[in-house]
Amino acid sequence: MRLKSINHVEPGDALGKAVYDDKCQLLLARGVALTDGYIDRLKKSNIHCVYVNDELSEGLEFDNVIPDEVKVQSVNVVRNVFKDITGRKGVSLSNEGVEAIKDIIDEMMGLIYSNKDTLYVMTELMGTDMYTYNHSAEVAILAMLVAKSLGLNNQYIQKVGIGAMLHDIGKMKIPNEVLNKVDTLSDDEFKLIKEHASLGYDLLKESLTISPISRQIVLLHHEKLDGKGYPMMLDSEDIPIHVRIVTICDIFNALVSNRAYREKMSVDTALETIRAEAIYQLDREIYYHLIKVVNIYPVGTIVELSTGDRGIVIKENKEAQTRPIVQVIREQKKAEIINLLNDLTIFITKTVES
Ligand SMILES: [Fe+2]
Repeated sequence: MRLKSINHVEPGDALGKAVYDDKCQLLLARGVALTDGYIDRLKKSNIHCVYVNDELSEGLEFDNVIPDEVKVQSVNVVRNVFKDITGRKGVSLSNEGVEAIKDIIDEMMGLIYSNKDTLYVMTELMGTDMYTYNHSAEVAILAMLVAKSLGLNNQYIQKVGIGAMLHDIGKMKIPNEVLNKVDTLSDDEFKLIKEHASLGYDLLKESLTISPISRQIVLLHHEKLDGKGYPMMLDSEDIPIHVRIVTICDIFNALVSNRAYREKMSVDTALETIRAEAIYQLDREIYYHLIKVVNIYPVGTIVELSTGDRGIVIKENKEAQTRPIVQVIREQKKAEIINLLNDLTIFITKTVES
């Protein structure tokens, strides 16, 4: 199984994972052989990539901390909670909404504790219309994994998860035309978007069962360590660890997600981009924990090697993520196998989107 761009899939490719629509309902099941009609339907649903089993990737599978069904369920919870307040004035989060979020966070925490040696693969199971909900669920998963890696206790991790899941809830109060605008934003529009942090915090005012830790995450997740964030331009010493965790996971997940107006970055490129361009605004220690919990080259990833060859990852080396076992591909055929842990003269130069 490997992730393939919708522009490169071919009739006959079998889906390696199910695909879901904008109501979190099954659109096409795992195992379905793609036809021109299905490919058309996927494109119309704004789906950029799908997992397929083709000749190159047959039999390759990866483990994940959070199974697809639970992830889809979590996206659906966010969707219901966010939709419930969209376009309604003066409404705050309902008690049922808060309970639904707590339940799914607890379920995911259980999985994080029981699959503690498994890395997280950011899977693409739905289209870009679901970006906000999918992003919220993934930032919650990443933030909980990072919080656990940092050694925080489970009550703390739960609060981080809830705050992370709700971090962008204030966006539901901002017009879609502004949120999804492809062209450059005007100063006023940018100012409006920035208000989502305080708008989100206000939405949670009445929800007494949401902890101050989760609320702070919603209010402060765009603060930066150089004092240039918003809404309060806090100095680094005033930005707590739970906020710093969500800030990094938020930026990282946004970079690796397909949007209606731009293609995603690969995981390795996104991590490198954050390191090169934004690390001075972020917490370095948390960044290193993020690298530890994310699967950078899941089995099935096509990579370019320093030799100029392309290869497909056939087995991960969990202790040294950047040195997996790779099978070289020549003329669309599988060639020799290289264990990058044994052959230190060769390294991965980049992930190849195909
Ligand atoms: Fe945000």
